[in-house]
Amino acid sequence: MDLDKLTLVQPAPTPGDTSWFRHDRFGMFIHWGLYALPARHEWIRNREMISVEDYEKYFRHFNPDLYDPAVWAKAAAGAGMKYFVVTTKHHEGFCLWDSALTDYKATNTPYGKDILHPMVDAFRSEGLKIGFYHSLLDWHHPEYSVDACHPMRINEEFIAANAGRDTSKYVDYLHGQTEELMTQFGKVDILWYDFSVGASGRFAGKGKETWRSEELISKIRGWQPDIMINDRLQIDQDVKTPEQRMPEKWVEVNGTPVVWEGCHTFSGSWGYYRDEETWKSSEQLLIMLIDSVSKGGNLLLNVGPTGRGEFDERALDRLTAMGEWMKRHSRSIYGCTQAPLEFECPDFCKYTYNPDTRTLYLHVLSWQFGGITLKGEVVKHIDYAQILSDASEIPFQINAEGNTAALKLPIKKPCNAEIPVIEIFLK
Ligand code: GLC
Repeated sequence: MDLDKLTLVQPAPTPGDTSWFRHDRFGMFIHWGLYALPARHEWIRNREMISVEDYEKYFRHFNPDLYDPAVWAKAAAGAGMKYFVVTTKHHEGFCLWDSALTDYKATNTPYGKDILHPMVDAFRSEGLKIGFYHSLLDWHHPEYSVDACHPMRINEEFIAANAGRDTSKYVDYLHGQTEELMTQFGKVDILWYDFSVGASGRFAGKGKETWRSEELISKIRGWQPDIMINDRLQIDQDVKTPEQRMPEKWVEVNGTPVVWEGCHTFSGSWGYYRDEETWKSSEQLLIMLIDSVSKGGNLLLNVGPTGRGEFDERALDRLTAMGEWMKRHSRSIYGCTQAPLEFECPDFCKYTYNPDTRTLYLHVLSWQFGGITLKGEVVKHIDYAQILSDASEIPFQINAEGNTAALKLPIKKPCNAEIPVIEIFLK
């Protein structure tokens, strides 16, 4: 079958422009707020049921004197990341920019300055696209009603005293801050809301009706016509966002493949967690990136900066290792997607495919020194093969029937290639 007639999965069209996103594949998530100071997870107020008053000490001591967004942006670009998404406000309600709608913001802490504009400028100057995470929840706002996730959810005195809260006033605030974020930072490429709360016991849920999601989306697209919006306003838009799991196959909605991005932490926490030790290895992280692209998706990998404003060593080590691999192997990621369905991938390998250059990438997750045999439809299309990291030829032998191709691999795993890749040029 002619190469162009093979079955290439395409995602359903979306309202926003996702072409750059589906090319770039790899982004940095940044979770940064007051929760970096207690340094034990961004949900600490919920987990330890901390009142606004008792949490105030972190506001009074927030002073990230070593914060230099140029250093962050270089670390992201060096890792091969092409966009970033930063928490403008997380569930704690603390804002990184000088919002006119609240006093609970970085400019009123000892740090005393806007954090967000310098970050946007630094990442933009490194060529990365701009994404804003914005929490729909707000455990600080005086009109945000107590719900199943609220830190005061079992404090009867607090619940009784705040029964008159008018969440619609909080939603006006949510819309107002969205307008600030959409109109004060130039072109914003992604808006990443999080999340809607289900009803539970005595507490009502908060969802698309609460947020006035339809109205909000319409306004956002007026302010930023090409923007990508995620799915967590409870109305699917431009990208589905599976979290902390690797999908078995290309993510679908009602049986239709869609644009998708998996978001993951290096360790078990989004916010800086000093004593948390479940840090994934660089090999695991690279396989997560390769696996995502092999299924037509993106990887958004999270860093939680410290209260001094730095990426910690554990994150920097992994970003550096990923960048080392991307330096020689980004051709198997950028512009790539799932291989044609007719191509059968060998065991312990992952395919990605660039349809524009008609190049197939065989990622060898476990080096097989005896060689790898490709079978079926792909065999007739193989023109030339090489090890991607050093462009050294990989000879191959096609059998008489023309349905197998034995790739002759060196005994030793290629150097400079934590995950070796065979670049296969197709005809
Ligand atoms: C989870 C976490 C939340 C984080 C989000 C990122 O929902 O609870 O803190 O911001 O994942 O997708």
